[in-house]
Amino acid sequence: MTPDLRTAVGDLRLANPVLTASGTFGYGLDLEDLCPPERLGGIVTKGLSPLSRRGNQPPRIAETAAGMLNAIGLQNIGVEAFCSDVLPELRRRSVTVVVNVFGESPAAYREVIARCERAAGVAAYELNVSCPNVSAGGIEFGHRPAALASLTAACRAETGKPLWVKLSPNAPDLVGTAQAAVDGGADALSLINTLRALAIDAVARRPVLQRGYGGLSGPAIKPVALRMLWEVHRALPSVPLVGIGGIETGQDVAEFLLAGASAVQVGTAVFRDPAAPLRILGELERFCAAQGVAAVGELIGGLQWL
Ligand SMILES: Cc1cc2nc3c(=O)[nH]c(=O)nc-3n(C[C@H](O)[C@H](O)[C@H](O)COP(=O)(O)O)c2cc1C
Repeated sequence: MTPDLRTAVGDLRLANPVLTASGTFGYGLDLEDLCPPERLGGIVTKGLSPLSRRGNQPPRIAETAAGMLNAIGLQNIGVEAFCSDVLPELRRRSVTVVVNVFGESPAAYREVIARCERAAGVAAYELNVSCPNVSAGGIEFGHRPAALASLTAACRAETGKPLWVKLSPNAPDLVGTAQAAVDGGADALSLINTLRALAIDAVARRPVLQRGYGGLSGPAIKPVALRMLWEVHRALPSVPLVGIGGIETGQDVAEFLLAGASAVQVGTAVFRDPAAPLRILGELERFCAAQGVAAVGELIGGLQWL
């Protein structure tokens, strides 16, 4: 029996539930020899802003016991270069492209979406709301439900395509922010982004990263991500979810599906093994076959709680 791997996030149909996570797979073509993007459920681009950005000074990555810290600083090529130089090739190869969007004001988010709407080949948008809202004193959009609802509504006004909001695990009220994103018009929620963390060089008595704090990702955060996913799924059972955080194996994917995700994204695992998303997909297929799961949809939300 070959399991049916097809899934859907709301109205967006995917050939399988394994996507790449923003910031860990470039713009979809950088690792194409090792991991052809058209064989995945889709790719999520590095976060795009209206203009290109160089990001933070190094060191901006630090390895930890079960993952890594990063403070890349949202380096990217800018939406114009993406639409004119990268998107046509992704489209030619029939890659399902989710554009990750960020900005320091709602106008910046809208500008990125408006430019992509004039191009062909974008399947959905994912808003990175772990970004300082300059007009609100630098507090992240994702930390204040009212600001998140109005940002989501502003982006909703720019597109009829699926709109995902990527939740921050650092927000004081996870379910409140999830609800605010839905109230603002989000079609789906992806979670989680990185956890705010600190690595210290004891000899230098300084933070390892040039910026001080960084975002923790990798297997260390998987149980946190599963807990948050399950909490949001239980609170908002009809909202499609995309699970992210420390996924390294096909069985990890099954765990996220059971906790309520309709699809997942693989991030840090790509740094160790650029072909990890494909390997994980093969493992998921074998896991389903071994467990007598005819279709991955059977797993979604299937966790049997106490
Ligand atoms: C180097 C690096 C860059 C990232 N850049 C972005 C980004 O631009 N936008 C975004 O929404 N998330 C970004 N993330 C967060 C990931 O997409 C993902 O949510 C997080 O790493 C957790 O998944 P993982 O444990 O599988 O890596 C980045 C993560 C890493 C490690």
